Amino acid sequence: MKIVCIGGGPSGLYFALLMKKLGFHHDITVVERNKPYDTFGWGVVFSDQTLDNMRQWDTETAAEVEQAFNHWDDIELHFKDRVIRSGGHGFVGIGRKKLLNILQDRCEQVGVKLLFEQDVNSDLDFPDADLIIASDGVNSRVRSRLPEVFKPDIVTRPNRFIWLGTHRQYDAFTFLFEKTEQGWFQAHVYKFDNQTSTFIVECPEHVWLAHGLDKADQEASIAFCEKLFAKNLQGEKLMTNARHLRGSAWLNFQRVKCANWSHFNGNSHVVLMGDAVHTAHFAIGSGTKLALEDAIELVRQFKALGDTADRIPEVLKHYQAVREIDVIRLQNAAWNAMEWFEVCGERYCDQLEPEQFMYSMLTRSQRISHENLRLRDKVWLEGYEAWFAGRTAQPGIRPPMFTPYTLRSVTLKNRVVVSPMAQYMAIDGRVAEDHLVHLGARAMGGAGLVMVEMTAPSADGRITHGCPGLWSDAQTEDFKRITHWVHTKTDAKIGLQIGHAGPKGSTCRPWQGAGMDQPVPADDPEGNWPLFAASAQPYLPHGDVPRAMTRADMDRVTADFVAATQRAAQAGFDWLELHCAHGYLLSSFISPLTNQRSDDYGGSLANRLRYPIEVFKAVRAAWPKDLPMSVRISAHDWVEGGITPTDAVEVARAFKAAGADMIDCSSGQVSAKQKPTYGRMYQTPFADRIRQEAGIATIAVGAISEADHVNSILAAGRADLCAVARPHLANPAWTLTEAARIGYKDIAWPRAYESGKPQLEAGFARERAMQTAGKGD
Ligand SMILES: Cc1cc2nc3c(=O)[nH]c(=O)nc-3n(C[C@H](O)[C@H](O)[C@H](O)COP(=O)(O)OP(=O)(O)OC[C@H]3O[C@@H](n4cnc5c(N)ncnc54)[C@H](O)[C@@H]3O)c2cc1C
Ligand SMILES: Cc1cc2nc3c(=O)[nH]c(=O)nc-3n(C[C@H](O)[C@H](O)[C@H](O)COP(=O)(O)O)c2cc1C
Repeated sequence: MKIVCIGGGPSGLYFALLMKKLGFHHDITVVERNKPYDTFGWGVVFSDQTLDNMRQWDTETAAEVEQAFNHWDDIELHFKDRVIRSGGHGFVGIGRKKLLNILQDRCEQVGVKLLFEQDVNSDLDFPDADLIIASDGVNSRVRSRLPEVFKPDIVTRPNRFIWLGTHRQYDAFTFLFEKTEQGWFQAHVYKFDNQTSTFIVECPEHVWLAHGLDKADQEASIAFCEKLFAKNLQGEKLMTNARHLRGSAWLNFQRVKCANWSHFNGNSHVVLMGDAVHTAHFAIGSGTKLALEDAIELVRQFKALGDTADRIPEVLKHYQAVREIDVIRLQNAAWNAMEWFEVCGERYCDQLEPEQFMYSMLTRSQRISHENLRLRDKVWLEGYEAWFAGRTAQPGIRPPMFTPYTLRSVTLKNRVVVSPMAQYMAIDGRVAEDHLVHLGARAMGGAGLVMVEMTAPSADGRITHGCPGLWSDAQTEDFKRITHWVHTKTDAKIGLQIGHAGPKGSTCRPWQGAGMDQPVPADDPEGNWPLFAASAQPYLPHGDVPRAMTRADMDRVTADFVAATQRAAQAGFDWLELHCAHGYLLSSFISPLTNQRSDDYGGSLANRLRYPIEVFKAVRAAWPKDLPMSVRISAHDWVEGGITPTDAVEVARAFKAAGADMIDCSSGQVSAKQKPTYGRMYQTPFADRIRQEAGIATIAVGAISEADHVNSILAAGRADLCAVARPHLANPAWTLTEAARIGYKDIAWPRAYESGKPQLEAGFARERAMQTAGKGD
């Protein structure tokens, strides 16, 4: 085959080398516009794992890289006059020039033709090539010529960065943070040879503009950075080797992904590789890894399917299918890490203490969890656990999940909340044995706080005929029986979630209709009831249409909420949560999707919040001063034009100002058109943002299913409590089970169950031992 690689970066060169080794008869040329020793940038890092992979494909390259690289384990943070270091992270750093020169030499040794200083215009310049590798980098001309074919999705990110070098030696992957009068800057620094370190300086666009860096040339930019980081540089200079860039050397990162990676241009098959087809932000330093692994995969496919011209279409199809999965995974992690650096100045630097800031930074990609950190550096992690616990009523070394939490006069023994979950087992709004067993079992199961499902202040505030209410003395007594049981038989606290269903009321129990939220049929023997909401808009297109609330309706509902709150206090609840989420009555006021009012309760967010805040204040005044109150909100409607996480910060601020102690950060269920992005801990970013930006404690909820999730969230300061719902349906003793799973023994079991504890702990200990020995799965 005749093969041309356009672009002699890591991907083009490595592919050419491996392909030539696969079949020496292949005629392979790499065409590069720069001279052999010209390159932008300084050193790159990749993981030990990438090097292992390279070793399997070309031992000579791997050996030379190994000779030239710098290996280090530690990450060091310089922040607010503190230096914090943790180990076990395992990086390899190498000069970009060195890596390219190793690859160039190897290419020449095996007979790849290298043409330098040739700027290629188009893939059409090589009509006799069977295969063209477009390895021409992030601004790929080949990709840009045919956007309708490759369908690139390119996002330009808001931060500015400049890639510099220095002769100051660093013995760890070092992160420097400096505050200026205009905002925060950070530097990502790592040594890549015996004399030189990469020094990337980054800041948000507005900070960059405020310092006039848009008008600064390279010299002025370097002088600025030298002054900013002078204390750390200890007299060493910063240097650029991007003189080819005209004007400012400050760049914006561009995230590239493509729907199609290859096509036939009429003469040759063309395939994108490396940065031309996908980029990963330097915050997790994986661009070179991806480029090298693309090259490996394409050669692997030729090896498996045949390295003749007729096999090219099949090979390219498999190449994309395999690589796409790895790339998406890495791009997601890189995206999280990149976003962390984009918002850290506003969200974390001024809010978190250095210890917690370090933890948050280390877990920024959300790929590294609490237990991963324990494996990397147990001593550091235990030190951090002690720091975290030292700030609670129970100092010592223990995972954050098992530290107590105090709000007003209530102390929860740990940070796990059984999230409110509708049971649909009430009869005429009254709870009985079903709820005693359900709530009692979960109170015995180890959680610090057990929340009762949404409970209505009036009969027409229920979601279904099976939902509980609190509008009569008899209902107060029913609940008193349950709180009394929990308080006398367990050390859990019990809270009530109070809410009015509004437009989503009068629906069937989920197992009765065709799924959730289905209206009760008109001829149903249990009967139907009329609905009201912020506006006359049904939740489902075929749902009952609510009428828009009048002021008189509002007064009646507020009075019902107050009466129910007084009853909740009489019933002995420790905690009250006002339900302002999921499209129910109060939520229907907050979201612009459901609130079309033109009076004082519609329009701006402040107006839309007016009635929910009015209810909150009335309820807060009726609820005992020494007991806490949280508010559940939908922090994202997941619909264009709906509530966004930015609005949610405003919503949280308004409830905080009205006296709320905590925001329970759920999302969605406001519009049937929602398109949520589900995933592990998918709503936690809302809890994090609200906690830091609105300055109020938060509960994270949603797909939190392991102790490791809970610990990672709490330790990073992303929330103060974690609510766990569905896992508690499967296992009432979820907290006790998770404690045993991670080997935490200092947790009390119900006396009658104690003999189950050592057995469960021993079982998990065996599992952990097998995993450590590599025998587990
Ligand atoms: C600030 C910064 C820090 C980074 N840090 C790291 C890191 O720590 N670890 C890591 O793994 N990655 C890092 N990267 C990313 C890494 O540099 C790239 O992901 C990697 O180089 C991609 O390799 P490539 O071969 O696909 O593209 P490139 O390395 O960009 O190579 C493309 C080549 O094509 C040539 N070319 C382009 N157009 C033409 C044309 N028309 N004709 C001829 N030649 C052409 C270019 O001159 C260039 O040599 C970083 C990137 C940046 C910007
Ligand atoms: C059966 C069931 C009933 C629920 N009922 C309520 C409720 O009454 N009030 C509420 O705010 N959320 C309710 N939710 C939502 C949960 O509290 C929680 O936010 C959601 O399930 C996500 O958490 P998870 O991933 O841990 O399940 C319910 C969830 C389930 C599965």
